[in-house]
Amino acid sequence: MRPYVALLIGAPGGGKGTIGKYIVRDFDFRHVSTGDLLRQNIAMESPAGKEAAHFIARGRLVPDLIIIELVATELRRGAQRLLLDGFPRTAPQAASLDASTPVAAAINLDIPHAVIVERLGNRWIHGPSGRTYSYDFSPPKVRGIDDETGDLLIQREDDEPSTVEARLRTYREQTRPVVDHYRKRGILASFEGTESKVIYDAVKRFLDSDIRRHAAQP
Ligand code: AP5
Ligand code: MG
Repeated sequence: MRPYVALLIGAPGGGKGTIGKYIVRDFDFRHVSTGDLLRQNIAMESPAGKEAAHFIARGRLVPDLIIIELVATELRRGAQRLLLDGFPRTAPQAASLDASTPVAAAINLDIPHAVIVERLGNRWIHGPSGRTYSYDFSPPKVRGIDDETGDLLIQREDDEPSTVEARLRTYREQTRPVVDHYRKRGILASFEGTESKVIYDAVKRFLDSDIRRHAAQP
């Protein structure tokens, strides 16, 4: 069977990680988040991590060459179903992916930016795994503690309000053209709203039928 590669794109804090977790729960996808990969590289103090850190802290995109190399390594590992979360975010990244990998669908989460700023202030994460919590929406069993490891939860440095504004600006300038690129290619599926669970019901229906369509193609 041909691999099914889907993209999860949309503004920072729009619920890519949240929806991605539901997709992995219900479909057999390998979930690759470039943000999580970068944070792991920063924690390991790898050369890529050291170079990426100051871009992330300022709400700017990490240089294309670093990201394309990280993703190429993940693509070489292969998967029957692969979900790329947060990649591509620039035109050169999209061109590099187009040249190497057939993409079946680009799932775009279209969430009002005012809602995003409020949510990111409430986000707590488990650093090593990227598991995400929010005290009102998806709280951990014990406040401040990761459900699976018992480690302390932390807040992301780039969730500070002025950095969130910079990330949203970067998104409008550099990533919106990527959304248009996939719209023109006819493989964009956009989902609007504020309720991740409602959005996910629509995403699930889409994936159920799109995976079937893909499998039926010669
Ligand atoms: P990355 O980690 O990908 O960050 P992002 O795109 O800014 O997106 P987030 O992970 O912040 O949000 P999300 O959409 O996953 O939302 P979540 O589900 O957590 O990237 C970080 C940085 O790395 C970038 O800024 C850039 O510098 C660099 N980078 C990454 N990829 C790159 C690339 N391709 N090229 C160049 N640089 C790159 O949800 C957010 C919060 O809302 C959570 O707390 C969640 O619990 C909560 N929430 C979700 N749904 C609801 C709801 N319905 N109601 C209430 N709360 C909700
Ligand atoms: Mg995320």
